[in-house]
Amino acid sequence: VPVTGSGDAFDALGGAINTMLDRIQSLVSELRLTTDGLAHDLRSPVTRLKAALDRAMLETEDPVAVAALESVASESEALLDMLSTALLISRTQAGIGREQLHAIDVQAFLLDLSEVYGPLAEDQDFTIAVEAEPGLTLNLHRQLASQAIGNLIENALRYAEGGKQITLSAARKGETVELAVADDGPGIPPDRHAEALRRFGRLDPSRHSGGSGLGLSLVEAVARLHGGEVALEDNRPGLRVVLRLPVLAM
Ligand SMILES: Nc1ncnc2c1ncn2[C@@H]1O[C@H](COP(=O)(O)OP(=O)(O)O)[C@@H](O)[C@H]1O
Ligand SMILES: [Mg+2]
Repeated sequence: VPVTGSGDAFDALGGAINTMLDRIQSLVSELRLTTDGLAHDLRSPVTRLKAALDRAMLETEDPVAVAALESVASESEALLDMLSTALLISRTQAGIGREQLHAIDVQAFLLDLSEVYGPLAEDQDFTIAVEAEPGLTLNLHRQLASQAIGNLIENALRYAEGGKQITLSAARKGETVELAVADDGPGIPPDRHAEALRRFGRLDPSRHSGGSGLGLSLVEAVARLHGGEVALEDNRPGLRVVLRLPVLAM
């Protein structure tokens, strides 16, 4: 026989909690929409600003003015890039692109990327090695996956000071494939991993200019689009960023 009094109380509590959870969920998605809307709305004025700067640069030969205009123009270009990446992250988080996953040979995929980034790496005295098990296939969104791995290679080139080698690897672990980019630079201390993954999170902005702090957020969004997750690990020495993707991601 149910204890009627407390049953009602529990039902009421459960109802209240559910209402609260619904409310929180809708607030969170509202917040996300607001940010996306903002990023979207900011693109047009910043594009106009950039065009006005370009026109102004044609109107003057004063070197001081030209230098100032060039610096503002390059800042607005960086801002436009940041807005595009923020929008791409939001779209990816919303699952847009999930219908474009195709079976891709992982070893060939990583070899292609090592070829694309090889010359850039060489210029900075890095070599890119590929250690991939042959015969691994993943359902990948080729463009987003390339951009994610590309972001990680660019991070290694920028932050792995004193390092020499970047390793792209792929290995099967049970029902997942571990896709990883590792370097032999200073790495990131474990207590700062969460901060590095956060949107706009940059650990040492004074030493490295130009970043937006969105690179790893995009990597995380791309891992999730594939039904996987991303983790930062100690490469002893260096940073190892691993995407754990389900073998049968559809
Ligand atoms: N390979 C790496 N080694 C050391 N620190 C790194 C590495 N990759 C990223 N970081 C740190 O994590 C921060 C966030 O990286 P990211 O999200 O790509 O943003 P961004 O490169 O635009 O700053 C970087 O600013 C840097 O401080
Ligand atoms: Mg980056």
